[in-house]
Amino acid sequence: MSTQDTSAKAGQLAINGENTQMPVRSGTIGPDVVDITSLYKATGCFTYDPGFTSTANCRSKITYIDGDKGTLLYRGYPIEQLSEKSSFLEVCYLLLNGELPNSGQFDQFERTITNHTMVHEQMMRFFTGYRRDAHPMAIMVGTVGALSAFYHDSTDINDPAQRILASHRMIAKMPTIAAMAFKYSLGQPFIYPRNELDYASNFMRMCFALPCEDYRVDPIVSRALDRIFILHADHEQNASTSTVRLAGSSGANPFACVAAGIACLWGPAHGGANEAALNMLEEIGSVERIPEYIAKAKDKDDPFRLMGFGHRVYKNYDPRARVMQKTCHEILDLMGVKDEPLLKIAMELERIALQDEYFVEKRLYPNVDFYSGITLRAIGFPVAMFTVLFAVARTVGWIAQWKEMIEDPEQRIGRPRQLYIGDDKRDVLPLEQR
Ligand code: SDX
Repeated sequence: MSTQDTSAKAGQLAINGENTQMPVRSGTIGPDVVDITSLYKATGCFTYDPGFTSTANCRSKITYIDGDKGTLLYRGYPIEQLSEKSSFLEVCYLLLNGELPNSGQFDQFERTITNHTMVHEQMMRFFTGYRRDAHPMAIMVGTVGALSAFYHDSTDINDPAQRILASHRMIAKMPTIAAMAFKYSLGQPFIYPRNELDYASNFMRMCFALPCEDYRVDPIVSRALDRIFILHADHEQNASTSTVRLAGSSGANPFACVAAGIACLWGPAHGGANEAALNMLEEIGSVERIPEYIAKAKDKDDPFRLMGFGHRVYKNYDPRARVMQKTCHEILDLMGVKDEPLLKIAMELERIALQDEYFVEKRLYPNVDFYSGITLRAIGFPVAMFTVLFAVARTVGWIAQWKEMIEDPEQRIGRPRQLYIGDDKRDVLPLEQR
């Protein structure tokens, strides 16, 4: 792990009248941490932090977010620069290895990933068990989990070579499985990957090609999709990444850990927000109804929230949302749907919300999910596929963080404690006396 992790300072904690010293550790940038590993032993107390709003559960060198400034760095590179100047596979190499590849390294990495894009032919049998109308995220959880029933030459997590092989296989096979889930929902035959295509173009072709005619990938659309993958690649210790880390901390099969991450990402508060945001815009239906929904979002007695708005870390504009909004306009212009009504509703909703004192005071801004749905629908994906695409992109982040966790000597099995508020010890009465 990096040398920047120092324990130069000490913090003083006064608990139940006792003063306890705790080391304060500094990273490269960002908040210091109070190292509380010895707190329970020293004070008999746990810390309590539901949702981990103030808790760091690991050291990491991969991604850094400054929520107040609205900045996002992958291995130190700003997301705005990477989304403009790099391809998704270059970013995959960066997240996995810590540096951007030179041309020789990139060519070799691209060949490696390309050669792992097929899945074992028996994987297709899992699909016949799913209903055709199953949500594609349900299919992703099941099918990615089933990868752990194959590839036994890349599951010894203590072997660095097998960790890398599992990482490459995961990155390479996610688009293939995602496209299979989409084709299955359509009742169309699966399309095999093509080795001459780049990552995003291969995915577009596996999703939209038909065996009865040639398919030409639109380079502007595949570049936009490639950029969308970059925006979603990693994001510090978000819920799904923390799930992958926790599952991996027990030494579980890496493919099964990614399946756990997919399950967590599916939730509407997390990766499912892109689907929920588009459904919300459809429900609002017109600019005139926006005030009604703003009022609902502010009503404490109403569980409704503006989907695609707010973030645990960003208390400023999500930098990914800015790039996504720009990409949205490019795609809509390309598709000749400048006056897409949902975009008009989204932009008016954003304008009103950003002026409303409720959203200003709570520092709620559009996040990456606010514009992604409109963009993905314009490209041709149905709403149910939006979170699947998020999972395809986030796989590299999950696997890079999983690999870092296993290689960090400070990491051990994750096992949080609790504040117990249940019954004290009591005796069982026989049934007839209860
Ligand atoms: C992602 O963690 C990551 O990095 C995630 C992600 C990634 O790349 O991995 O960035 C991807 O998940 C983006 C977020 C997508 N989710 C949504 O768009 C769903 C809508 N957003 C909210 O559910 C909410 O903002 C969360 C879940 C994103 C954040 O929740 P927090 O941090 O627990 O914040 P909170 O719920 O405590 O909200 C603080 C206040 C509350 O009001 P009070 O109780 O203080 O009075 O803000 C309000 C909330 O009611 N609030 C909202 C709101 N989001 C928060 N009110 C209306 N609409 C919203 N969208």
